[in-house]
Amino acid sequence: MNYQHAFHAGNGADVVKHAALALILSYLNRKDAPYRVLDTHAGAGLYDLGGANAQRTKEAEDGIEKVLAADLPARAATLLAPYLDAVRTLRADGSRRYPGSPALALALGRPQDRFLFCETNREERAKLEKRVGADPRAKILPQDGWQAITAHLPPRERRGLVLVDPPFEEPGEFQRLAEGLAAAHQRFATGIVMLWYPIKDLKAVDAFRREVARARLPKTLKVEVDFAEVRRLDTLSGSGQIIVNPPFTLADDLRSVLSALAPIIARDGKGRVRVSWLTGEA
Ligand SMILES: C[S@@+](CC[C@H](N)C(=O)[O-])C[C@H]1O[C@@H](n2cnc3c(N)ncnc32)[C@H](O)[C@@H]1O
Repeated sequence: MNYQHAFHAGNGADVVKHAALALILSYLNRKDAPYRVLDTHAGAGLYDLGGANAQRTKEAEDGIEKVLAADLPARAATLLAPYLDAVRTLRADGSRRYPGSPALALALGRPQDRFLFCETNREERAKLEKRVGADPRAKILPQDGWQAITAHLPPRERRGLVLVDPPFEEPGEFQRLAEGLAAAHQRFATGIVMLWYPIKDLKAVDAFRREVARARLPKTLKVEVDFAEVRRLDTLSGSGQIIVNPPFTLADDLRSVLSALAPIIARDGKGRVRVSWLTGEA
């Protein structure tokens, strides 16, 4: 497997995922107590959207580039400010750099917070080392992200986020995702866990959602954005996230943010947003 996130960096799915990541870290930042982020599938950390890989697919043109150019409604603009400011800060030098989850988490984290990034692909890990490895708060591991869930949880800080964002290139990824979620929650019941999944194979997505609901974790939020009103099954049709133990206002905030983002990143200028509780809060 040789998945390279550089082909997809800054696309609509990244925008949805990174907007949620930034919101979650902003909530964690409200208390001084340190937290830890475990990013089980970290990627290369930071991307050049002007580089050959990103330019080959041009996926970011319909994602972050449109969002940066858009006139967002006031509430969404305020909620998105930490994320979009982090992107704009990277570009202050005139480049078209875009933060992957590691660079974004480090940009939003404070000096007292700690970050663990797992990446099994040697070339991607070397880029990650080069791009964010000098940050003393970051630790980069060659460890399998699924194993890291059991090896590194619970964190000493007892608060934080586990981000699970696998490439979905191998069969069985949905099953591993459901098992990973159960393991993460069992070891770190108070932690926030965010999983990303593609909306493409609707049967598999449906079975996954049901399995997550059956696990009966106390508070499980489902966040899905379709990139068009009518689903297309020949390509990535939408972006899904399961968030366990979401911060108090996250569901409402994500509704505002994603309702503003969906028409911008959707293929048909409309899109669809579904934010609902699988367990708890409903
Ligand atoms: C979708 S990308 C991650 C993107 C990143 N989370 C972001 O938002 O910028 C998935 C990454 O997981 C890596 N990977 C695949 N299997 C892995 C495993 N078992 N453990 C850790 N990393 C893995 C791939 O090499 C790839 O770089």
